[in-house]
Amino acid sequence: MPVKGRVPWAIVEHTLAKHDIYRRYLERWFPILIGGSNAYPSATYAEGFAGPGVYADGEPGSPIIALEAYVKKVPTTRSLAKFLFIDDDPRCVSMLREQLTERFPERPRPLDRMWVDVVQGKCGELLEQYLTERGCWGQPILAVLDSWGNAPVPHPLLRRLARNPATEVIVTFGTQHFVRFVEQLGADADGVFGGDQRWRQVRGLPDGEAKRRHLLDCYRRSLHDAGFQHLLDFELIDRRGEPLYLVFGTNHPRGVEKMKDTLWEVDPVQGVGFRDPRDEQHETLFDVNEPLLAPLARLLVPVIEAGGEDGVAVQDLKDFALRETVYRMQHVSPALQPLLEKGVIRSDPVNRIRTRGRVWAKAG
Ligand SMILES: C[S@@+](CC[C@H](N)C(=O)[O-])C[C@H]1O[C@@H](n2cnc3c(N)ncnc32)[C@H](O)[C@@H]1O
Repeated sequence: MPVKGRVPWAIVEHTLAKHDIYRRYLERWFPILIGGSNAYPSATYAEGFAGPGVYADGEPGSPIIALEAYVKKVPTTRSLAKFLFIDDDPRCVSMLREQLTERFPERPRPLDRMWVDVVQGKCGELLEQYLTERGCWGQPILAVLDSWGNAPVPHPLLRRLARNPATEVIVTFGTQHFVRFVEQLGADADGVFGGDQRWRQVRGLPDGEAKRRHLLDCYRRSLHDAGFQHLLDFELIDRRGEPLYLVFGTNHPRGVEKMKDTLWEVDPVQGVGFRDPRDEQHETLFDVNEPLLAPLARLLVPVIEAGGEDGVAVQDLKDFALRETVYRMQHVSPALQPLLEKGVIRSDPVNRIRTRGRVWAKAG
């Protein structure tokens, strides 16, 4: 859907946080895949909703951020980096082309090391075709699917991406569109959720958090069904706007770790935090500089209770934190410590949280 207002538009808080995440993640992704001694022959960075490459006050857009990360972190390589940018608004496409020329007046890498395509059209119609034409399949792809939140990306494309080696997606997902238009939206909207119509149950849920949570769970399930084994979703908090979620899908535990390292580096002082959408009390993860671990503790308690008389290995809780929450493994011990002190759990060794130890929920 072409942009309704002027191009370029003013940047909002969410976008600054999102760009910070993209930048830091890409600065890890490029060198791992095409910078080191085990580099793949090629890798593709593809955006299905690229935007104009610039914001109203001159801030760079995501395509520029991606190219900068590559140029900064991969000074020399024998691999080929393929950049593919699609947008359906002709104004965005011509502005992005201008921005690329302005910001990189000299081609930063020769033609046999770097390709850049900017294409006008719909992501759902063109992305798969261009990935084929450019010979991208069979090599790693990072697909950034940053729509206005309605995520119009065909499920067969997501399934194909999930099957492709070392391939990951970062999808921007907003719930507002689905909540507001549930009565009018047809089969295309079901397609966003892989054809599963359970997202429509949103109609009967109370407004606010319950609706948002249901839609996010449905979307997460659809990415999982598409074939992404590891999913990480987090809410970008904008004090003024609607919440927006980034959903990251990968088949590599290392991808999850790198994305978490990225998240925990993002500067919380800029006013935009992020939080784990599954924490019922919805506490933000930062209090200025200190991560808040109470949400993690709340997520761990049911897992420990489910362990019953056998308890749960602390290592399993660390794996759970890594796989199922926005927290890192090293957050688990400090999150358990207050539970131990308050008598909510007991441990072996007694009164200590050790990675090789176990914990039990205390009855009553
Ligand atoms: C959120 S903006 C992208 C911002 C950009 N990724 C950035 O961070 O700088 C969404 C863009 O998607 C484009 N768009 C919307 N629907 C589209 C579709 N179905 N296919 C391709 N582009 C689309 C809009 O023109 C707009 O430029």
